[in-house]
Amino acid sequence: MDKLIVEGGRPLAGKVRTAGSKNAVLPILASSLLTREPLVVEGAPQLADVSTLLGILRELGAEADQDADGTVTISCAADVQGRAPWESVRKMRGSVCVLGPLLARLGRVEVSLPGGCAFGVRPIDVHLKGMRALGADVRVEHGYVVAEAPAGGLRGARMFLGSANGPSVLGTANVMMAATLARGTTVIEGAACEPEVVDLADCLNAMGAKVRGQGSPILTVEGVDELHGARHSVIPDRIEAGTYVLAGALTGGAVRVERCRTDHLGALVDRLTEAGVPFSTGPDWIETHAHDTHARQPRPTDVTTHAYPGFPTDLQAQWMALMIRAEGISLITERIFPDRWMHVPELERLGAELRRQSTAVVVRGTKELSGAPVMASDLRASAALVMAGLVARGTTEVHRVYHIDRGYERIEERLANLGAAIRREKE
Ligand code: EPU
Repeated sequence: MDKLIVEGGRPLAGKVRTAGSKNAVLPILASSLLTREPLVVEGAPQLADVSTLLGILRELGAEADQDADGTVTISCAADVQGRAPWESVRKMRGSVCVLGPLLARLGRVEVSLPGGCAFGVRPIDVHLKGMRALGADVRVEHGYVVAEAPAGGLRGARMFLGSANGPSVLGTANVMMAATLARGTTVIEGAACEPEVVDLADCLNAMGAKVRGQGSPILTVEGVDELHGARHSVIPDRIEAGTYVLAGALTGGAVRVERCRTDHLGALVDRLTEAGVPFSTGPDWIETHAHDTHARQPRPTDVTTHAYPGFPTDLQAQWMALMIRAEGISLITERIFPDRWMHVPELERLGAELRRQSTAVVVRGTKELSGAPVMASDLRASAALVMAGLVARGTTEVHRVYHIDRGYERIEERLANLGAAIRREKE
């Protein structure tokens, strides 16, 4: 296992180019199972999660490769098998998105339940409800979801897929993929509106699917007999972009984040404006302006996470890293994953003043943080710890950084290019 060692106190400066979206590319790669022709995905990020999913697709019988420039080519020309085992699926929750395509293609599938996750219960009942609505018989046996399509294949249907905590991103993706090859029309109400869902729908349409309404809560999928190969370019990662913007804001650096979709980051732009962070934007870039963060601390600014276009839960921890240096008290409320607070005790080790109250955390801003050894837990929590290390006095060691590698392409290289004193070492 590796650790990252960060010496705090240097403002960042320079440019960083956003990679392709992790959460868009995972279901897009899984959608290759829907056709025997090759799917070429340009701009896929080089991440542990992408390699894991490509490994699972190969185990299922696909040929899959990623070039040095990120382009992934997958061919599922040969017969694929319908069992995704626990050993592979447990590594990454996102691998549950092979369920829909495999069921549509084979009519029977066994996919291991993904299991627990660092930040609480993450059920997949919405995915299963959607498959049942398409006519499948779905049961859980020996830790596996076993789903069987009815004779004649899946049937289009009208369904509501919202959950108590809002729509489900991967649930919508899974059902949408299954519905592309169903007989008749499927209408998904309460669909997730995230840009990653839109990107998947665009890819499916390039493969010959008939999906409409993507980006709205009502999605319509008209089933077709078969899909064909396609070439698709994945959208930039709004969470990666937002993380570097927040790192620039936190350190008072002039950081220009390029190749991002500013229109996907409306809630972040709104909160940064409210916090008085100096920055400017263009359609595909956001730039924080150099400033003295002691003389000009961010204004305390509350954030509540919501489904898109609300403030993303995947930026909640990084927002906290900014607010721990604000000039007063702010409230951060988590509405998507009520237990997503793994970063709280670790940030406290760096001197942050935080108090958890049910599904919210009260943050009392402070000017001084001091470096300490901390433990990375989940992916975004880990990014927040690295960010806090950039402004803490002395040395911060972030252990178990494999979490970061799941979702940030060579983060230490990018931060070092921006002037951070950061290096990777073996534990
Ligand atoms: N939910 C249910 N039942 C379900 C599915 C979800 O109750 O069957 C609940 C969840 O417990 C949660 C809410 O619905 O309270 C939303 O969960 P969602 O299903 O949208 O999450 P996901 O699709 O499993 C994706 C991203 C996450 C991101 C969430 C929310 C991928 C691979 N993962 O997860 O990304 O936080 O959407 O936007 O796309 C990350 O990148 O660090 C990450 C965790």
